Amino acid sequence: MTEADNSAVPVITIDGPSGTGKGTVARWLKRELGWHLLDSGALYRILGYAAETSQVDLDDEPALVLTAAALQVDFIEQDDGVGVLLAGSNVTDAIRTEACGAAASRVAAHAAVRSALLERQKKFRRNPGLVADGRDMGTVVFPHAVLKIFLTASAEERAQRRYKQLKQKGISVNLAQLLGEITARDRRDEERAVAPLRPATDAVIVDTTRSDIRAVESHIKSLVTDRGLARAIS
Ligand code: DC
Repeated sequence: MTEADNSAVPVITIDGPSGTGKGTVARWLKRELGWHLLDSGALYRILGYAAETSQVDLDDEPALVLTAAALQVDFIEQDDGVGVLLAGSNVTDAIRTEACGAAASRVAAHAAVRSALLERQKKFRRNPGLVADGRDMGTVVFPHAVLKIFLTASAEERAQRRYKQLKQKGISVNLAQLLGEITARDRRDEERAVAPLRPATDAVIVDTTRSDIRAVESHIKSLVTDRGLARAIS
């Protein structure tokens, strides 16, 4: 199959701000369906990381576009999930820091940077299907997806979740500072002129503030089944 005729390959999009459980739900759904996975946030994080390590200014759009075009990225299966290689170096943990999330959000605000990463994202659409996780998967990258899910949760709840995650890893953080960073990142992602974070008009909005991950997965399982996509989900 050529890239041009992959439009029949089904796509499920999972968009929303950070800390809503998007990544966990996307990885679970990918496993259940046996489909491919696109973690588009990782691409923006890798670009933020690559720019910072090569001293490219995060506001220098033309230089960021060149950096984006030259990125050598591979996603690999690891014992603990999906790993990310940048030019052969494992950057899986390095790109998950709060600082890298903020850098990703800054580079993602440039229209030309988003265009430079568009085709790379579309190439993930391969048989038997794709679960795509991000901010604009349902609005821009895969507007004809068979199912669009938009996960939300209050900023306070998302900050609490992140706080617990970091504490478990032995990283000490200040909850109020974390909430401030999350709110600032949300605002930048929602207010940018190009592909802002917002649900597609045909997205199903799932509020995870008061639900644990199992309840969210069970809700999504019913959405997937209703669309006749779930023969593989037991
Ligand atoms: O999902 P994440 O936290 O890994 O994403 C990091 C940043 O990347 C996020 O704050 C905004 C940007 N991003 C984006 O603009 N569009 C996407 N499809 C995915 C992420």
